[in-house]
Amino acid sequence: MAAIGKDIFRAKSILEQGNLVGIPTETVYGLAGNALNSDAVAKIFAVKNRPSFDPLILHTYSLEKVDDFVIEIPDPLRQLAEKFWPGPLTLLLPKKDIVPDLVTSGLDKVAVRIPNHPLTLELLSVLDFPLAAPSANPFGYISPTQAIHVNDQLGDKIAYVLDGGSCQVGLESTIVGMEQGSLVIYRLGGLEVGSIEKEVGKVKIMVHSSSNPKSPGMLKSHYAPKKPFVLGNLDNLIKDYSIKEIPFAVLSFDKNFPGLPNSLHIQLSAKRDLSEAAKSLFAAMRTLDSLDVSVILAELLPEEGLGRAINDRLRRASAGEEEK
Ligand code: TXA
Ligand code: MG
Repeated sequence: MAAIGKDIFRAKSILEQGNLVGIPTETVYGLAGNALNSDAVAKIFAVKNRPSFDPLILHTYSLEKVDDFVIEIPDPLRQLAEKFWPGPLTLLLPKKDIVPDLVTSGLDKVAVRIPNHPLTLELLSVLDFPLAAPSANPFGYISPTQAIHVNDQLGDKIAYVLDGGSCQVGLESTIVGMEQGSLVIYRLGGLEVGSIEKEVGKVKIMVHSSSNPKSPGMLKSHYAPKKPFVLGNLDNLIKDYSIKEIPFAVLSFDKNFPGLPNSLHIQLSAKRDLSEAAKSLFAAMRTLDSLDVSVILAELLPEEGLGRAINDRLRRASAGEEEK
């Protein structure tokens, strides 16, 4: 098992040796290594069992620093950076040669983000290099939102997890880039579309392709528990699976089911608060995935604000297993 603690200098020394550390961010925990050291970056792909065609996000601590790694920041993207960094926003920007091709999987743009977490910002500011960090989960599984999640799955492969508590946002960053002069969102995430559009006007959303080589994180089956995950009307589903005598667990937004034992049901937000739901979503999916049941039954949330990103994750987790 990895050690878990709050010692940024311990993390710093491991990273300086070219090894990896679990780091907290406001979105999800990352599996971090020196982004300018190809050997360290190669370890990230190996530990995550991640295909090399799926590029990594480079994390740094200030907008001035970003200039070290990118050729330019087009105006609308700069506007977003100034408004929302540090925060759950990742920008795709033309990379300088100093960024190894392994980080970007050979693409000429690099994904960059300034995370909003005090421990990690402090760590980044004492390092001489930026950190490449994908979510700290095995490829395809649910992202970790607590240090213990990282340890559960990757603890035998890394030495240290920096413990920053439970992630405040709970969904990965929103990824934004530009194509032919227009803004494009490639991944819905912790920064709402509405907040972005309020700043820079209408943006195109291109997250629905199941084979978009630009963003394999958008693969149809991703962010997925190991158990079948079925989406639909919960009252109907519960009736169906009870009749079929298939043991199930339930993930609901605000609904309560008095007949169900508490241990088999997680309610994301009794007061229908989407940020509260986002914050507990991945931990809830993990808990239900660990129960002795055959299937997880869940419902979509309102398709508005953070609900869009939450529903995106729920759909990918179910990978087509919606109620017929
Ligand atoms: O919130 C987050 O973004 C978290 C925390 C740790 O910062 N990181 C994260 O990383 O979610 P990861 O690797 O799990 O997802 C990054 C996504 C992937 O879908 C990847 O394909 C896309 O970003 N991506 C990275 N670099 C890219 C690039 N150059 N062009 C297009 N997509 C890119
Ligand atoms: Mg990920």
